[in-house]
Amino acid sequence: MTDTIKINIESIGTSRLSQVDFNHIDFGKVYSDHMFIADYYNGKWQNFRIEPYDMLSFTPGSAILHYGQSVFEGMKAYKSITGDVLVFRPEKNFQRINKSAERMCIPQISEEIFMNGLTELLHIDKNWVPDLPNTSLYIRPYIFALDEFIGIRPSDNYKFIIFTCPVGPYYSKPLKVKIEREFSRAVHGGTGYAKAAGNYAGSLYPAKLAQQKGYDQLIWTDGATHQYVEEAGTMNIMFIKGNKLITAETGDTVLRGITRDSVLTIAKEWGYEVEERRVSVDEIVQGLKKGEIKEAFGTGTAATIATIEVIGDGDIDYTLPPVGPDSFSSRVFAELDQIKTGKKEDKYGWNYKI
Ligand code: COI
Repeated sequence: MTDTIKINIESIGTSRLSQVDFNHIDFGKVYSDHMFIADYYNGKWQNFRIEPYDMLSFTPGSAILHYGQSVFEGMKAYKSITGDVLVFRPEKNFQRINKSAERMCIPQISEEIFMNGLTELLHIDKNWVPDLPNTSLYIRPYIFALDEFIGIRPSDNYKFIIFTCPVGPYYSKPLKVKIEREFSRAVHGGTGYAKAAGNYAGSLYPAKLAQQKGYDQLIWTDGATHQYVEEAGTMNIMFIKGNKLITAETGDTVLRGITRDSVLTIAKEWGYEVEERRVSVDEIVQGLKKGEIKEAFGTGTAATIATIEVIGDGDIDYTLPPVGPDSFSSRVFAELDQIKTGKKEDKYGWNYKI
């Protein structure tokens, strides 16, 4: 990697690491010592630095607080069996943050800034990468608009930040999900494929209504007809029917998940017939009724492989068979975990060593 940016480093002095109980870490509640920051002003990214993780300061008029001009990513780093820190497919997150940024009129970030910022940060905070089973260091890069201005136009000033959190599982048990037939997450021509902050804010209310009925998450359907399954908001969604793995095709309404891509690659290698296409709710409901759909699960960086045990449509809940260690989802979870932690050959070149 080329080292074209100069990063100023202000170290925390005394690490907060000893205060953390790695056996009991709630997802997203524990923050590592440092963060990487870059500022965008006068038409370029500059002022690269690593500082102790702390409060930020910007004015109440800042555009991000009103109009949500912001994009983010999620990645994970793992401690390998040889003690190395391995980040899973970060170049994909680099590409996707720029796709999202383009849609939200946010300036592009260069590979040098993204990768060098990430690498330096993880060098400094390498002891924050946990090595217990089912733990990792979650990495959150994001960009947000900072113009102090009340009109609607793209900002001229931004911050790009990367911070990290040691995490355990995002979902601690198999999920009950409800097929959402009324509210929409994304429509054609919209921002659904981007990791734009507002997409997630807009999903909160429908998810809250579903949670009040005892569900954990939603399966979003297409905004035009509500007849086709799209994604689950925190993850892409997949079904196993016989020897087929079925998932919604990605377009402009579905996030191009990196875990999704990794699972599809492994499924093909294992001889599954992978179908990326429009998946109708009717097909899923009929498949559940007839017992043809053996597994349903979400895929995502935070969620990894999240087993679904109940799918609700209207007033009817369909319960899936319990997944054993031989199920596709259990095996692909284990396979990915072994690749990410260096226990199995990384034949696709997915790991980036810090
Ligand atoms: C991720 O999987 O990394 C995400 O960004 C989803 C987020 C809503 C937790």
